[in-house]
Amino acid sequence: MKTFENIEDWRRFRDEMIHHGQTLAFVPTMGALHSGHLSLVQAAQKKYDHVLVSIFVNPTQFNNKDDLEKYPRSLDRDLATLSSANTDFVLLPLEKQIYADQNKFKVLESDESKILCGAHRPGHFDGVLTVMTKLLGLARAEACYMGEKDFQQFRLVDQLARSFFLSTRIVGCPTVREPSGLAMSSRNERLSAAGREKAALIYRALENSTSCEEARRVLTDSGFEVEYCEEHWGRRLIAANLEGVRLIDNMAIEARS
Ligand code: PAJ
Repeated sequence: MKTFENIEDWRRFRDEMIHHGQTLAFVPTMGALHSGHLSLVQAAQKKYDHVLVSIFVNPTQFNNKDDLEKYPRSLDRDLATLSSANTDFVLLPLEKQIYADQNKFKVLESDESKILCGAHRPGHFDGVLTVMTKLLGLARAEACYMGEKDFQQFRLVDQLARSFFLSTRIVGCPTVREPSGLAMSSRNERLSAAGREKAALIYRALENSTSCEEARRVLTDSGFEVEYCEEHWGRRLIAANLEGVRLIDNMAIEARS
């Protein structure tokens, strides 16, 4: 596994790969890796010559300073995990290189980024779409693998790539869950053992509640602070806080039992 910290080193290396006709799939992450992230690497490995994973905790997508500071970081463990998953390349870009323009140039979307997570985290998707434009430009990959766990993000990045005629295909992959049904997330690490058990109620509310009102009631009665439960794009989507940790999940309405 080859690790790049300097963006320019990576760019030169990628030039060579392109010159030799080698295909690349890209998996952007913010680290604190778990089986959800690895499922993206595995899906990408099946179709492309090489896989690049980036780890960059992007400050501009955090609307809350405390959330950014508390975001779990485990670089040594992440690199060991990626190496045992036979990842080819890891990009660990420096903030000063990614935002060499002092974040002067931004990519904004004015419709779907304003609802759900966008309504509750002002500016969040501006940060996501801006950093994804930069990362996709750096990776120059044939495909970028993203999780449906963050369904709104996946949709927006897919639309971004199409809108700017980027040559990278955005591929959505199913949500990986704990045996309890809880969607795997780097933020789960911040829950207590009891909280982690309780957090599976979000999955059950997605699956079993007959309406969003009912899902909201069930979760509120169990001590969650529900941010939203709404239905869009044939899916039910929930964001709720538990023990001060913000959790999101969603499910296709037709997939419910
Ligand atoms: P992060 O939260 O680290 O997630 C990286 C990728 O892993 C995203 O595409 C996300 O949807 C996917 N993922 C997370 N949990 C998953 C699960 N349980 N099952 C399947 N896929 C899962 O999302 C981000 O980072 C950032 O916003 C980023 C896109 C890197 C831009 O900064």
